[in-house]
Amino acid sequence: MNIVECDSGLPALRLEPQTAAHAEEMFAVLSDPAIYEFENDPPESLEWLRSRFARLESRQSGDGGEGWLNWVIRFASGDPVGFVQATVRSDGCASVAYVLNSAYWGRGIASRAVRCMISELVGTYGVRRLEAVLKRENRRSMRLLERLGFANAPPDTDAFRALEQDEIAMVLELGNVDV
Ligand SMILES: CC(C)(COP(=O)(O)OP(=O)(O)OC[C@H]1O[C@@H](n2cnc3c(N)ncnc32)[C@H](O)[C@@H]1OP(=O)(O)O)[C@@H](O)C(=O)NCCC(=O)NCCS
Repeated sequence: MNIVECDSGLPALRLEPQTAAHAEEMFAVLSDPAIYEFENDPPESLEWLRSRFARLESRQSGDGGEGWLNWVIRFASGDPVGFVQATVRSDGCASVAYVLNSAYWGRGIASRAVRCMISELVGTYGVRRLEAVLKRENRRSMRLLERLGFANAPPDTDAFRALEQDEIAMVLELGNVDV
């Protein structure tokens, strides 16, 4: 898994393959309650987060069928701001997720980081199709995906069929998109 330098825009961003060694600084980043307005909960403790990050260092599902890729988003100047995540399947499809501390929302940083991850997914992992599942009320996340060219998943797709009632799925076919 590569360190990815996100070339376009300022401040400069870098994606670092996430390891247990990131737990301490990411515990502070991820303890922001604003992140969990729609789903999930803050890390229970630093130890909990460290062991989670350690498990994720395998970079794959238990059966080895999926790539589980997590990168810490960091300003090149030093501070960590959040993470981006991709679950990569052998059919060239990846599910993506992204979380930033709210101190860094509203500046286009998340969009840049996700676009940068998508370039890496395409170039290094051969991904051709992206999916994201989000809570219907998570307008910030929806706007981010729309900016990147995602559209609502058609009802006949797996992503659509697996949804909870309060969720939507969005997809981006990369065949005709310049990333
Ligand atoms: C979802 C999340 C990553 C979106 O963050 P964000 O900062 O709103 O996303 P972006 O980086 O695309 O920034 C967009 C905002 O920055 C503004 N902006 C400023 N400069 C910009 C630029 N150069 N490019 C794009 N947008 C820019 C946009 O106008 C937009 O503002 P708006 O919110 O008023 O519409 C963030 O809200 C988050 O971490 N939420 C908690 C976790 C979560 O819900 N994750 C998603 C689960 S599916």
